[in-house]
Parts: sequence; C-alpha cells; structure tokens
Amino acid sequence: MRIILLGPPGSGKGTQASLLEEKFGFPKIATGDLLRDAVRRKTPLGLRVKEIMERGELVSDELVGQLIKEKISQAECQSGYILDGFPRNLNQVKYLEMIDGHRKEIVIDLEVEEEEIIKRLSSRRVCPKCQEVYNLILKPPTVNGKCDICQTDLVTRDDDQPEVIKKRLRVYRQETQPLIDYYQRKGNYKRIKGSGRIEDVFKKITNWLSPYISNSRPRAGR
Ligand code: AP5
Repeated sequence: MRIILLGPPGSGKGTQASLLEEKFGFPKIATGDLLRDAVRRKTPLGLRVKEIMERGELVSDELVGQLIKEKISQAECQSGYILDGFPRNLNQVKYLEMIDGHRKEIVIDLEVEEEEIIKRLSSRRVCPKCQEVYNLILKPPTVNGKCDICQTDLVTRDDDQPEVIKKRLRVYRQETQPLIDYYQRKGNYKRIKGSGRIEDVFKKITNWLSPYISNSRPRAGR
C-alpha cells in the first residue's frame, strides 16, 4: 500500500500525513522534511539544495529520486508508506513507478483556496528538531515559541516568506497540478476538501481510506 498526498503548499499534507502514520502505522516520507534536515546539517546534499528551496523552486528530480529510493527500500516501508511532497512532476511519477511499480496506490488530493493557504503559511511555525508543525492561530504551542514535544525554539520556514509562498504556488500549478489528470485517469484519485478543522479533514480522509487499508495494515496504529 502506498498513500500519496497531493495538494498545494499549505494544504495540510504534512499535518494529515503525520495523523495517518499514527493511525495506520505506515511510515511517512516527506521529501521537504528530508531536504530541510540535510540543509540544517549542512550535508553536501543540503548545501546543494539550500538556495533552491529558499527560492521556492523544485530540487532536481535526480536528488529527490535518490532520497525516495533510499527510504522506500528500508524494511519499515515494506508493507506500505505515505508520501508527502513526492511525486511533484510527471518525471517523478514515472520514476516512482519504475522503482516500486507493483504496489497498490491511493492518491488523496487536498483542496484549499489560495487565500487560506497564504494565511496558514504566514502563521506556521515548525520545530527544527522533531519537525512538529504548529500554527499560531489554529494550533499554537502550549508555551509560546517552544515545541510541545522537545521544547526546542520554534522557527519560521525560510520559504514561508510572502514572495516565496507565491512562487511555490506558481510552481505547484505548473509542475504538480498536471499529476491530477494523470491519477484521475489511472482511477486511484480522490479529491478531499482540506479546509475546516484538522480533525474533520482527517475524518474525511480516513472514512474514504479505511476500506482500502483494512487488509494491508502493517501493525496496529500507534
Ligand atoms: P514541502 O516541505 O513538501 O512543502 P510544500 O509542498 O510547499 O508543503 P508545505 O510543507 O508548505 O505544506 P503542507 O501541505 O505540508 O501543509 P502543513 O501540514 O505543513 O517542500 C518544500 C520544498 O522542498 C519545495 O519547495 C522544494 O524546493 C523541495 N521539495 C520537496 N519535495 C520535492 C520534490 N518531490 N521535488 C523537488 N523538490 C522538492 O500545514 C500548513 C500550515 O497550516 C500549518 O501551520 C498547519 O498547522 C496548518 N493547517 C494544517 N491543516 C489545517 C487546517 N485544516 N486548517 C487550518 N490550518 C491548518
């Protein structure tokens, strides 16, 4: 089983992927998180991608392809995994199907209006250590500026600046939106409204997913 979360920046892919991981037990693979971690640790990969990410552009297919291949070949992904932020263009779709093509696959596309996206991303804060995501309006940390889980100081993502948000939305429309047609034709696609309370969006997703997952769950949800 493979669950792919599609949707524009800020539509809630990461938030919902974490909840799905917790409920169904499939590991979440978020290319954005992996890349940001490399940037933070100043690895050779991080140094190559830092500026590209700060501009809101896509990192090369080759680099993210390597990351994905490494992750999905791990034992914990054998029964299934959740993809957040990959694939992002048709090249990446083809690559995924080449390296792991026989797997049952479901695509959830989160639909959110641009006005709401801009509001969400401007008020997002993240934990640089454990990656927990907060929102100053909707999901604030208990102690101002500190992660609830590991007490690290929260930060604003470099690409959550207004101009970069606009650029990311343009890149999404150009590069990623065409995947909707592709998956619709493939017949494994479901569009779900991503606005409303996080729990309500999650309920809509799980109501739809549960019948597909009941037979392929790797272990009891955590
Ligand atoms: P990535 O990290 O994947 O960013 P993104 O796709 O732009 O998505 P976001 O993480 O911004 O948003 P999200 O949909 O996960 O929303 P979230 O749950 O956080 O990629 C970053 C960069 O990495 C790319 O620009 C690119 O450079 C590179 N990259 C990554 N993958 C790549 C690939 N495959 N190929 C090439 N380059 C790649 O929620 C957002 C906010 O809203 C949070 O504050 C949250 O608390 C809040 N929120 C969530 N749900 C709700 C709700 N229902 N109501 C109100 N608020 C909500």
